[in-house]
Amino acid sequence: MATQNLLFMKTGDNLKIAIYPGSFDPCTNGHLDVITRSAKIFDKLIVAVLTNVNKQPAFTAEERIDLLTRTAKKLKNVEIKNFSGLLADFARENNAEVIIKGLRAVSDFEYEFQMALTNNKLNPEVETLFMTTSTDNMYLSSSIVKEIAMYGGSLDGMVPKEIQADIYDKLRR
Ligand code: PNS
Repeated sequence: MATQNLLFMKTGDNLKIAIYPGSFDPCTNGHLDVITRSAKIFDKLIVAVLTNVNKQPAFTAEERIDLLTRTAKKLKNVEIKNFSGLLADFARENNAEVIIKGLRAVSDFEYEFQMALTNNKLNPEVETLFMTTSTDNMYLSSSIVKEIAMYGGSLDGMVPKEIQADIYDKLRR
């Protein structure tokens, strides 16, 4: 390899690492859109799947990680990990400088703003960046996907085809 190329190679120490946290119960096209766009900006993107949610998730942590792994498999700089506890600590442990949050509507903002300030207070090394969702996915949420699947409605355009059967199997009454 030419010397000038070696000079520009990034080492583990100066990789720009971002975290995209969430419950992903289950992941939707909206999540996948944010993952794909963030992976283009950062050297490494860690999708952090929360395991200790207060409300009972429909999918276990292992299932949510499996669905994400299958949908994001083409993105080589994306790693799916589970986490519990504080996101600010998880960011520190993973040398992440950025937390990515997707914003669908102004109504998302107030709570997200509070979380961003809290995370920065707990870990001043971490910044939160907000990414607007694409217009196609503005209405989408995991809750809406679960409700549609429960009644056997079409999930086309809402979740990737390769995981639709898993969602119906879990939720259809
Ligand atoms: O997909 P969700 O459920 O909206 O994701 C929420 C999540 C996981 C980002 C949030 O609940 C979180 O960061 N939980 C970790 C606990 C934490 O760090 N709380 C303090 C920050 S306010």
